[in-house]
Amino acid sequence: MNLRPSSIDSSVEELSKFDSILDQLVENGFAIIDNLLPVSDATALHQRILELEAENEFEKSGIGKLAVFQIDEEIRGDYIRWIDFNDIPLHLSPYFSFLQNLIPQLNRSLFLNLKDLESHYAFYPAGSGYKKHRDRFRQNPHRVLSVVFYLNPLWKINDGGELVIYDDKVKELVKVEPLFNRLAIFRSEFIHEVLPCHTRRNSITTWFLDKELELTFL
Ligand code: OGA
Ligand code: NI
Repeated sequence: MNLRPSSIDSSVEELSKFDSILDQLVENGFAIIDNLLPVSDATALHQRILELEAENEFEKSGIGKLAVFQIDEEIRGDYIRWIDFNDIPLHLSPYFSFLQNLIPQLNRSLFLNLKDLESHYAFYPAGSGYKKHRDRFRQNPHRVLSVVFYLNPLWKINDGGELVIYDDKVKELVKVEPLFNRLAIFRSEFIHEVLPCHTRRNSITTWFLDKELELTFL
């Protein structure tokens, strides 16, 4: 993705969300923001997931990359669809422009060197989750921050599917319900899991990388 500064300036509202994200990340290593987008923009993203599924665009997720790629239902039950940033319909752009504007703020305030991002739509069918793991590991060392945007308009407390983030001693830091229009950001080296959901769970997952995506396969 091209990370040139976007031509649209951040609104006051967007800037206050950036501030909150930066403060929370400095303090805790993770950040939660509710009501991220105007409801109509979040709804359009939810619709997009349903549309892509109807077009059979999702595939079963796996673990690892290329030669070490495996599918293991026991570990990870979601279906994913990678996002091509050269091909984003206009009505879906508010979310991606938010992410794009966030990157320079993170670089400046947290002294990071984020250069790119990768992103996929995801859904977990009822009964599935994702066991404890890290998003940054030896075969994939360039993920610095993990970002998840939840798109579940009718989510209820007992629907399960919480994201649980742990510290290095696997002590629980926070449990996050995947509520509609909620954003969660955390350091990719944190151990985390998705508890089994009792109803379908939709999201967009993004990773901020410290290297250009085309170069991470080298
Ligand atoms: C992942 C992941 C968390 C979530 O896709 O690697 O941990 O809440 N997702 O969906
Ligand atoms: Ni993860």
